[in-house]
Amino acid sequence: MLRMKSYFITGGTTGLGWELAQSYLRQGARVAVCGRNLSKLTANAHDRYPHLKSYELSVTNKEAMAKAIEDFAKEGLDVVIANAGISHGSKSKWPDGDVSRSIIETNVLGVLNTFTPALEIFKEKGSGHIVAIASVAGFIGLPGASAYCASKGAVIQMCESYALDLPRWNIDVTTICPGFIDTPLTQKNDHSMPFLLSCEEGAKRIKKAIDKKKVLYVFPWQMALAIHVLRRLPRFLYRRFMKLPFADYSKC
Ligand SMILES: NC(=O)c1ccc[n+]([C@@H]2O[C@H](COP(=O)([O-])OP(=O)(O)OC[C@H]3O[C@@H](n4cnc5c(N)ncnc54)[C@H](OP(=O)(O)O)[C@@H]3O)[C@@H](O)[C@H]2O)c1
Repeated sequence: MLRMKSYFITGGTTGLGWELAQSYLRQGARVAVCGRNLSKLTANAHDRYPHLKSYELSVTNKEAMAKAIEDFAKEGLDVVIANAGISHGSKSKWPDGDVSRSIIETNVLGVLNTFTPALEIFKEKGSGHIVAIASVAGFIGLPGASAYCASKGAVIQMCESYALDLPRWNIDVTTICPGFIDTPLTQKNDHSMPFLLSCEEGAKRIKKAIDKKKVLYVFPWQMALAIHVLRRLPRFLYRRFMKLPFADYSKC
């Protein structure tokens, strides 16, 4: 009998993670999601989707993450999606040390805590696929988002190395770098969000890239192009550009 494909998605209780989880569940896969607060999951989620498993934990808790992944993997594990992430609520130019620390802990160490136990399982099994949901913000330093940009940049570089190292163990690596997607994360933004995509559309494009095992997927193309140009500008020109009133969306 054909075994169901198994996906573990961190931060799958809302936004992109939950949208992705539902797409995989609808196509007949087993899916695990995790979050710090499972009451965020849609009511009756487990009745609607009998193959859904959920774990209440923080990705910053290394032991809890390893336990959850090992528990879910008892019945199979094929793809692990490190999606859980947080951002700066308010894009203040004065960096808040505690907020920055928690962004780095969740967005960088959380990814490491997710991939480390999964990689052990994939190595033993002889195959697997790890996916990181990074961001276009990981390619440049944006105003008011120092820790977020640093965290996503770290994930992009980490996965670039993984993509060189892990294929010899038959482990695929995908890094996804979205622009703005309409989710609870961005709904609190009080600045303009060019090329904003709906959550459904964002998740649809991410799923397609994961299914195709793309190594790097940056979207939408307008945002990919804008970031490509900005990161190649001489840095003094970039700094001048970001001071222009329409480019500097952060508050003082
Ligand atoms: N939306 C965008 O425009 C956009 C653009 C680029 C990249 N991204 C990235 O996409 C990913 C998903 O974001 P989203 O937009 O879908 O945001 P979201 O709707 O706020 O979802 C974030 C998810 O992560 C979980 N989470 C947060 N901290 C966690 C922790 N410490 N441990 C476990 N789970 C945690 C949340 O659940 P709990 O709060 O219950 O823990 C929630 O399920 C993030 O990595 C984000 O940086 C988003």
